Amino acid sequence: MAMVCLSDFEAYAKKYLPKIAWDYFAAGADDCTTRDENILAYKRIRFRPRMLRDVSVVDIRTKILGSEISFPVGIAPTGFHQLAWPDGEKSTARAARAMSTCYVASTYSTCTLEEISRAAPGGLRWFQLYIHRNRAASQQLVRRAEALGFRGLVLTADLPYTGKRRDDVRNGFRLPPHMKVKNLEGAFEVCKMRQGQTPRDLCIVAAQMSFPFAVSFWLQGDDCSEYGLPPNSLDPSVTWNDIYWLRSLTHLPIIIKGILTREDAELAVRHGVQAIIVSNHGGRQLDEGPATIDALVEVVEAVRGRVEVYVDGGIRKGSDVLKALALGAKCVFIGRPALWGLAYRGEEGLQDVLRILQDEFRLSMALAGCASVSEIGPHMVQFSKL
Ligand code: FNR
Repeated sequence: MAMVCLSDFEAYAKKYLPKIAWDYFAAGADDCTTRDENILAYKRIRFRPRMLRDVSVVDIRTKILGSEISFPVGIAPTGFHQLAWPDGEKSTARAARAMSTCYVASTYSTCTLEEISRAAPGGLRWFQLYIHRNRAASQQLVRRAEALGFRGLVLTADLPYTGKRRDDVRNGFRLPPHMKVKNLEGAFEVCKMRQGQTPRDLCIVAAQMSFPFAVSFWLQGDDCSEYGLPPNSLDPSVTWNDIYWLRSLTHLPIIIKGILTREDAELAVRHGVQAIIVSNHGGRQLDEGPATIDALVEVVEAVRGRVEVYVDGGIRKGSDVLKALALGAKCVFIGRPALWGLAYRGEEGLQDVLRILQDEFRLSMALAGCASVSEIGPHMVQFSKL
């Protein structure tokens, strides 16, 4: 099968992954309106290409928070990579390093931060944090990431609770017994399941005992699902003030992920974050919010260049990357396409996905009359009346 574009990898993953894993990756919340809109919204944007501008050499390199990457596409944090490929996040880390781009490792990785670091020493990596009720445990994760050389802390702001993903509910999604949410292990040995207790009981017990992570029980238990993360584990009371708390823990730049409005963009800047990721979690949280490329315009306007702005959601080809940069993003991140690449051939498959995006992006720039990333701007696009 010739892999020509990202949808070829999607078709492969759909055909060969176990249904429960495919559904988990593909899921959007409720009617999946926002998930699908993320993609459709790109199609409403049209280029205003310029001609005769010497595009014999096209420079696609850029920098994010001072680190150079080979092109403005990074890998968004997604959970459970071993569902796609046995080596899981280790393969992701290797592919990202091979392609000289940034990999944001999720709290819900199936490899530890240590394993990820050892797999690709020196690669550019950020760590994505979900704040849990047990702050000591979240603090420990942040400190571990910093000590291991992760170069940014991505705080995901859009998941006080997990959105309702219908196929996961129908499938009773759970991690297979040999996979673990490894970064969250450690608190479990002391908390043995007593006869007659359900995983839900244990989560409650664990939370009452201030154990940080009842998650693993939950994910592997009868009631398990990612969106079934127990309210006793994730902290839904997080507010803007917690950015100051994070700031006190780490010297790493803080990047806030999940911003969709000018009001929150302004708050993010005022609370001292170094960057914003415009994101709706791939349409997996609140359905019927805006497509991210539409929200990007509002956020970029509000930020007025004070911090870097990135976007994720619905990026499926190189020209999407060009549109996002034209509308003010410094870089984009891909979620599901990275998982499809892993499902195809692990590290090599993900490299293929990144290489295709890289080639398409370079070609789109050249055809639009742009020889370097610094030349990309809003003059290059218009919103179609279609
Ligand atoms: C995610 N996303 C996500 N985000 C995050 O901050 N932490 C996480 O653990 C996860 N996990 C996760 C799992 C899966 C299967 C998906 C599809 C998504 C959201 C992710 O970072 C990103 O915002 C979206 O995936 C971007 O949309 P696309 O590229 O998938 O369309």
